Amino acid sequence: MMDTLELRKVMGQFATGVTVITTQSGEDHFGFTANSYTSVSLEPPLILFCLHKDSKGCPVFLKNGAFAVNILADDQVEISNGFANRALSAEERFELISYTKGKSGSPIIDEAMGYLDCRLSSSLESGDHVIFIGEVIDMGQHPDKRPLIYFQGGYRELMP
Ligand SMILES: Cc1cc2nc3c(=O)[nH]c(=O)nc-3n(C[C@H](O)[C@H](O)[C@H](O)COP(=O)(O)O)c2cc1C
Repeated sequence: MMDTLELRKVMGQFATGVTVITTQSGEDHFGFTANSYTSVSLEPPLILFCLHKDSKGCPVFLKNGAFAVNILADDQVEISNGFANRALSAEERFELISYTKGKSGSPIIDEAMGYLDCRLSSSLESGDHVIFIGEVIDMGQHPDKRPLIYFQGGYRELMP
């Protein structure tokens, strides 16, 4: 029998950045904090993220067919906590940020370290999560900012 607590701890040994993944089409918008973002392919440009299959966000991503990955900077912990707060509605989460809409219509958070605006390419249910793969159609960055890091279940800052 797998020890789930130990599994979480070992998975937490992998230091990651923190992203907020957003989507919007008309009234249908959703966003959540994710560290499952990873790059997949350069040609074509593909990236992925995983979302719990019971999240109300899954049908929204599938319906909208587009999303943006917003890479958070070290001064955006409140945004990360807000978009990871199950008690907050999508409306309440979006009140925490100022943003513009990207080419795909997805919200791009002002002052994020970088963003990848994507068209949904494919999705795959795997275990208790859904893997969403997107093709990058637009991007941008603030190279002068410093990243927010997540490690062993807590936020960290990159040493200079
Ligand atoms: C740093 C961090 C990273 C996270 N990464 C993921 C992730 O990759 N996939 C996921 O499903 N949940 C992840 N979560 C949890 C979700 O952000 C959280 O469950 C959120 O409430 C999901 O939105 P929902 O409640 O509307 O489904 C993460 C939380 C934090 C704080």
